[in-house]
Amino acid sequence: MLIQTINLGKVYKNGIIALSDINLSIDFGEFVFLTGASGAGKSTLIRLLFREEAPTAGQILIGGRSVIRLTRPEVVRLRRNTGVVFQDFRLMEKGTVFDNVAFALKAVERPWPEIRQRVPAMLERVGLAGRENDNVMQLSGGEQQRVAVARAIINNPLILFADEPTGELDPQTSEELIQLFLDINAEGTTIVMATHDKGIVDKLNKRVITLSHGKLIHDAVGGFVQ
Ligand SMILES: Nc1ncnc2c1ncn2[C@@H]1O[C@H](COP(=O)(O)OP(=O)(O)O)[C@@H](O)[C@H]1O
Ligand SMILES: [Mg+2]
Repeated sequence: MLIQTINLGKVYKNGIIALSDINLSIDFGEFVFLTGASGAGKSTLIRLLFREEAPTAGQILIGGRSVIRLTRPEVVRLRRNTGVVFQDFRLMEKGTVFDNVAFALKAVERPWPEIRQRVPAMLERVGLAGRENDNVMQLSGGEQQRVAVARAIINNPLILFADEPTGELDPQTSEELIQLFLDINAEGTTIVMATHDKGIVDKLNKRVITLSHGKLIHDAVGGFVQ
């Protein structure tokens, strides 16, 4: 099992119970949709799973190891194997498209000739060929989202967490992004994608995990549940 949560819970400092008693298991190679109304806890669950935030109850195991007990170097290793597309993109605002995607390769100390070759190839894959030198703040929301996706997947992560990655995209671009996710899933990356997009979920017939008010209310293969 790749990801397992045991009675996982999160209460924020303001007293909001964002998640309670979440028990789920995700196997290597799965493609999982995470659905639920706004405020249901999707982003919180993703933040807990890649250890950006600590749970207030329960456990998370990645590859059988408790992420709460990882040492600093182990956290670094986990992050290297994990790609994340944030709901708010989190791009380096002063950087170019190239800088933002290259960042992920520099973080794992890839040599410059390799970075120079792989970034344009990745940009082509997300439909941003030739946009290397544009400042990210001059791009549309959908283009920024694709930069965020390129940065998240360029290291061929074992796990990709994507938080509403089609939120800013038109239907056509959205389809292309989903096709890209299906391709990298077929290449072995496990994908957990939070989404509101009923059309995408209904069409793909993948596993759907649904949260409601911080609780897991549905976990089955098939259509959209909210
Ligand atoms: N950093 C935070 N501090 C306090 N409350 C938060 C924080 N982040 C999210 N929440 C609250 O936790 C609940 C779940 O939020 P979130 O995980 O963002 O849901 P979703 O992504 O499904 O919309 C909401 O009630 C939200 O207001
Ligand atoms: Mg969210």
